Parts: sequence; structure tokens; C-alpha cells
Amino acid sequence: MKTIGIIGAMEEEISQIRSRMELVQAKNIVGADYYIGKMRGQSVIAARSGVGKVNSAICAQVLIDLYAIDYLVNVGVAGAVNRELNIGDVVVSKDAVHHDFDASVFGDPIGFIPRLDITYFPADPELIRAAEESGRAALDDEFCEAKLTPKVVVGRIATGDVFVSGEDRRQRIWQLFRADCVEMEGAAIAQTCYLNRIPFVVVRTISDRSGAGADAEFREFIGRAGAVAANVIERMVERIQ
Ligand code: ADE
Repeated sequence: MKTIGIIGAMEEEISQIRSRMELVQAKNIVGADYYIGKMRGQSVIAARSGVGKVNSAICAQVLIDLYAIDYLVNVGVAGAVNRELNIGDVVVSKDAVHHDFDASVFGDPIGFIPRLDITYFPADPELIRAAEESGRAALDDEFCEAKLTPKVVVGRIATGDVFVSGEDRRQRIWQLFRADCVEMEGAAIAQTCYLNRIPFVVVRTISDRSGAGADAEFREFIGRAGAVAANVIERMVERIQ
């Protein structure tokens, strides 16, 4: 049986996934919590990594080394960079880039990692499909009565160790990468998976618009983030074999 690793940075992003698992064991390893068990008959390990690129990369490597996961799914919230996206929409990663990686003094484009020679880490096509279908099904079930159903898009995730809450910064990330959303873990997890040859996908719900006031929008939305993540994941584990 395959084992699916799931990373959420914060308790709010992972708690409802944990509560839908048949839990066998819980462990804390170098500051992150790991919940080992099953969901819908599938072997699942859900982890609360902590915020940011270092925490999430360590967590991904622990899942790979200690728990031999076959797939990795990163769930959570993100700020919209693409102006077509609204709060509540879901972005499934086509790929992920470090927007704060800058070796441009050597003539490299921002985001390009010298020696690794890569800018955009591609997500796994099968996982993208499973996440997209699961996202659509989850939102359809939740919003079947509503007129304004949130949408699911496959797009680009930009990651950095910064909470983006200003129009200048949002515009720069849009102009440099045409990223759809910004968050603080996806590309670090993507890079770890790339180096270990583990298929990954990032699934993020838009919590804010990354402009002035993004922090207030984030605080208002974060309580709803866990339900979306759990609804998508529960459907995804059935589609991944
Ligand atoms: N996560 C959710 N919203 C974010 C933002 N605006 N910047 C970075 N990470 C986020």
C-alpha cells in the first residue's frame, strides 16, 4: 500500500485532516508534529511543519526518510497574486518557485537556483489531476446552494519567507513570475521532493489578496481553511492508489 504524506504549516490547516483519520500514533520530531494512521483505508501521515521554508523542508525530508512516503501533498492557505482569484478559490500547483531567491548579481533571473539550474519545480501530473477533481467535488458539495461558487485553478505557487501584505510586493511577484498565489512553504517542499524524486502537489485556498489589509483578511479566513483542506484531502486519498 502507498503512503501519502500531508504537510500543513499551522494547526488550523491540519487539525480537521487529523480528526478524520484513524490515528495510530502521534510524534513530535524536531519541532514538528506527525500524525500516523489511515484515512478511507489509505495509509496517511499528516504533519504540522511550522511556518516557513526551513521548517517545511525539514518536515518533508523527515516524511521521506523516516516514514518512506510515496507522495507528498502540501495543504494550506495563500494570498492571491493573480487579480482574477478571490478569497475561497483553490489553487492546485502546476509548479512552484522561490520568489525570494535572488542570485541576480551573477546574471541569473530571480528564482533561478544556480548549480541546481532550476526555477520552477513541476508538480506531479497525476496528483494535479487528483487534486483538481477533488477540489471541484469538495467545492460543489459545499457550495451547491450558493450563487458564487469558488473556483479551482491549476496555477503557479510563489513561495518566500515573507507574509506579502503590500501592493508593490504583490505586483512584483506577478510581474516576475505570473504566479497565481503566494505562500511560505510550497517551493521548499517542492524542492525537497524534486531532490528526492518524490511526486508532490500543493493545494492552497485563497485567504487574502496580498495587498494592504492582507493580515486582517488572513485572520478572518484562517478558521475556514481547515475544512477546505480536509474536504479536498479526503477525496484525494480515494483517488490516489
Ligand atoms: N499565506 C496566506 N496569505 C499569505 C500572504 N499574503 N503571504 C504569504 N503567505 C501567505
